[in-house]
Amino acid sequence: MENKKKFLTRAVHAGNKVDQETGAVIPPLHLTSTFEQESVGVNKGFDYSRAGNPTTKRYEENIASLEDADFAIAFSSGMAAITSLFQMLKNGDHVVIGRNTYGGTYRMTTQVLESHGFQFDFVDTRNIEEVESAIKPNTKIVFVETPTNPLLELCDIKEISKVCKKHRIYLAVDNTFMSPYGQSPLQLGADVIMHSATKYIGGHSDLISGVLITSDEVLAEKLYFIQKSGGAVPSPFDCWLLLRSTKTLGLRVQHQSDSAFELAKKLESHDEVKSIIYPGLESHEQHDLATKQQLNPDGQPIYGSMISIIVSSIEKRDSFLKKIKLFTLAESLGGVESLISVPYDMTHVSIPSDVKKAMGLPRTLIRLSVGVENIEDLYSDLLQALED
Ligand SMILES: Cc1ncc(COP(=O)(O)O)c(C=O)c1O
Repeated sequence: MENKKKFLTRAVHAGNKVDQETGAVIPPLHLTSTFEQESVGVNKGFDYSRAGNPTTKRYEENIASLEDADFAIAFSSGMAAITSLFQMLKNGDHVVIGRNTYGGTYRMTTQVLESHGFQFDFVDTRNIEEVESAIKPNTKIVFVETPTNPLLELCDIKEISKVCKKHRIYLAVDNTFMSPYGQSPLQLGADVIMHSATKYIGGHSDLISGVLITSDEVLAEKLYFIQKSGGAVPSPFDCWLLLRSTKTLGLRVQHQSDSAFELAKKLESHDEVKSIIYPGLESHEQHDLATKQQLNPDGQPIYGSMISIIVSSIEKRDSFLKKIKLFTLAESLGGVESLISVPYDMTHVSIPSDVKKAMGLPRTLIRLSVGVENIEDLYSDLLQALED
């Protein structure tokens, strides 16, 4: 019933019913670790907040609805969600994963999970043949990010999902960079979506959270089991904030993306910008795929609010960072405030320099996360910071 309504309506209403007891338009926040049992084993659907909480459940319902999915399983961070996904594996299982993955995912897989007997192969997921040839008899999951952080490389979810179906393995998509508003991996054939909800879903840079979303009942059951067993659950308060944030997700993401597109077009011809990476520009190698795959709920192409620019030298990079005022130098992205970062030395610091070199990530790449501020103010700020 809920899923038949349009995205912006579901964002406000899914999981958000008027409180029956008091009439409160905003349902209450259940800050409780435990629940009274009427008699042993008899309760009102909840017994302990690690295993389930009414506020968490309402958030899970809301976010599942936004991805047109049946189930959402919330975690205390994006990394907890990714780790929980891989905890479905058994010793000796193999995963094919994007080579240009988020630094924390690289660190978790290579420095923690490999020592538990899981195997990971990092490949260029832009190339379907490379993905398929990395699949082995023990491969259980293909894990991709699209667009990637920070090189904004895309992979064709529909084509990769065909390969995964052929080999009977799960396709998991880290959809953090597009949010549920800008890309629908389940509709393109993926089995499970992961979000760092810290980013667009939270949207205000005030919490850390993650979520896995699927319509596969067997998969969902395993993930709920890992959620309650591992206990990497978000606090009910964070879920309450997340529920408040998703109401404006579509408005924020559309505005941020429109601003980023305008800024990218303006910056493309700037003398001090050696090169620019933005999927909305025709100069982006995979512009056509972005136009086909990244669609808002009205079916219009949407290119995201992340822009990567490469400047001529480290000195230029540092003078730019010193002069910029409205973009705050900080890790993270997707919030209402514009942020700026140098992935080589920040988010991707755990990736060895030879690996960064091989993936084409230079020290002079500056990543912009465009917020909801006035675009003329953002542009003037960028111009003055780029000046010599
Ligand atoms: C693409 C992507 N995936 C996963 C994560 C990890 O999420 P979290 O920081 O919420 O643990 C991040 C964090 O920056 C990210 O950018």
